[in-house]
Amino acid sequence: MLIVINNVSKVYPMGSVEVRALDGVSLSIERGAFVSIMGRSGSGKTTLLDVIGCLSRPTSGEYLLNGQSVQALSDEQRAIVRNRSIGFIFQTFHLLPRQTALMNVALPLFYNGVAQDERHQRAEEALQQVELGHRIHHLPRELSGGQQQRVAIARALVNRPEMILADEPTGNLDSKSGAEIIDLLKALHRQGQTIILVTHDIGIARQAERRIVLEDGVIVEDSEER
Ligand SMILES: Nc1ncnc2c1ncn2[C@@H]1O[C@H](COP(=O)(O)OP(=O)(O)OP(=O)(O)O)[C@@H](O)[C@H]1O
Ligand SMILES: [Mg+2]
Repeated sequence: MLIVINNVSKVYPMGSVEVRALDGVSLSIERGAFVSIMGRSGSGKTTLLDVIGCLSRPTSGEYLLNGQSVQALSDEQRAIVRNRSIGFIFQTFHLLPRQTALMNVALPLFYNGVAQDERHQRAEEALQQVELGHRIHHLPRELSGGQQQRVAIARALVNRPEMILADEPTGNLDSKSGAEIIDLLKALHRQGQTIILVTHDIGIARQAERRIVLEDGVIVEDSEER
């Protein structure tokens, strides 16, 4: 199993009360899976993705990534896991506005100590993979929303991550651009990429192989489509 989560809770203390953003979640995800996560606003979707992505530590419970305990790692070691193994895609694309598409995509390689020639070559390949080989020197503002999200996907892919975590990647896009992004994620999945996708759109969620629904930090539905 790529991901094993056992009885994970995430509690935020808020003065005299506490918010249970995740409340005893257990979940296993195989390598190569395509999973969607749905649920109302505030149900814990982003919190769960942040735990899976080693961005935040659970308050209790166990998280094994490739059989290795994540909570046993230091912050620094978790940052390394995050850089090497996990590609993030967000609703707002989080691109650096003054950097070209190529430089935005090359940046994670810089943090991993890859030499400049190889950085540029791999960034260009990743941009070709998302069909933006003709836009590599464009700034984010010179690209459409769908194109900007494809740059963000190329940036997520450039380290050849073990999984892609996407938090409402179509939330800021018109339906046509959104459909193109989902088609791209499906194509990556067919090539073996593990994808975990948070969405509010039932039509998008249905395109995943497996659908998880959260309610108040609890998994209330976990169904596999064949
Ligand atoms: N840093 C924080 N401190 C306190 N409470 C938080 C924090 N982050 C999230 N929460 C609370 O935890 C709960 C789950 O939040 P989360 O962001 O995971 O929801 P979500 O399902 O992603 O919602 P949305 O669909 O609106 O993005 C919410 O009630 C939220 O208010
Ligand atoms: Mg969220």
